[in-house]
Amino acid sequence: MENTNTEQRKTIFSGIQPSGNITIGNYLGALRNWVKLQYEYDCLYCIVDMHSITVRQNPAELRRRSLEVLALYLAVGIDPEKNIIFLQSHVPAHAELAWVLNCYTMFGELSRMTQFKDKAAKHPENVNAGLFTYPVLMAADILLYQADLVPVGQDQKQHIELTRDIAERFNGIYGETFKIPEPYIPKEGTKIMSLTEPTKKMSKSDTGGGSISMLDDRDTIVRKIKRAVTDSGSEVKYAEGKDGINNLLTIYAGFTRKTIAEAEKEFEGKGYGDFKLAVAEVVADELGRIQAEFNRRLADKEQLNAILKNGSERAAYLARKTLSKVYRKVGFYILEK
Ligand code: TRP
Repeated sequence: MENTNTEQRKTIFSGIQPSGNITIGNYLGALRNWVKLQYEYDCLYCIVDMHSITVRQNPAELRRRSLEVLALYLAVGIDPEKNIIFLQSHVPAHAELAWVLNCYTMFGELSRMTQFKDKAAKHPENVNAGLFTYPVLMAADILLYQADLVPVGQDQKQHIELTRDIAERFNGIYGETFKIPEPYIPKEGTKIMSLTEPTKKMSKSDTGGGSISMLDDRDTIVRKIKRAVTDSGSEVKYAEGKDGINNLLTIYAGFTRKTIAEAEKEFEGKGYGDFKLAVAEVVADELGRIQAEFNRRLADKEQLNAILKNGSERAAYLARKTLSKVYRKVGFYILEK
């Protein structure tokens, strides 16, 4: 039931980068939960474009993708009236707080971030300072809004822990300033793996056959799922070591809102071929409906702009409150109005 008691409502902050293609992993693991959360929490759903430039981006593409992510948020049912939806670069307080927090974050802490180490290894030609301090900008995103909960995948948990450490450190020096946020990690069974390397997470930057984009057409979806890696067995059963089949079962269960056990039952006595076709079918059907709404939303640029304007104004108002407090506490001289 909808919790209309706004006094008691907790605040949620989460964000997706407008780089790469939003995948069915992002959908099942994040976006679809965000829709549910909007009825119970005060949610801020950000498109974190400032994070994206830690890796070199094509400017036209970044601009286009930013609007596409917004249209996707809307298409899956995230309501711009119920939530604050905005672009990170539209609210300057993110960069401003990030600078302050940089001065309360240790070089050693950032050096230990596994995502930094991975990305640095992947882009050895561009290990820039922004890539290194990326988690500090993320901490600023969260702490600006005094968020209670941060829905993220397992891979972001370390960044939330760092956010808590930074907040506790700051509070320890200056007194209560930031709420200490908790990660909100979806249950097992929502982590979607690559179709070609099912021991790795399905990735937005995978342009081969490993990832299904929310915007893939039916033929592409069928082709990718048909080619998905499976084992040499034949039983459609979830089991240790059968990563490919386990992943397809997870996808099927996710899209049909069934349990893994129900899905297994459905395919008793059937082979991998039939199963794969069924998976492709349910994915293509649901994505088809979302894409129709996505296209409708994307065509109305005026409305998208109005949503972004309204979202960034509401976000900026909240963010200013925290930033002013921080500026006072660290000793910046403030001109009284
Ligand atoms: N780093 C997150 C990711 O890559 C995106 C992100 C940026 C984020 N700021 C955030 C997620 C704040 C949650 C809260 O997935």
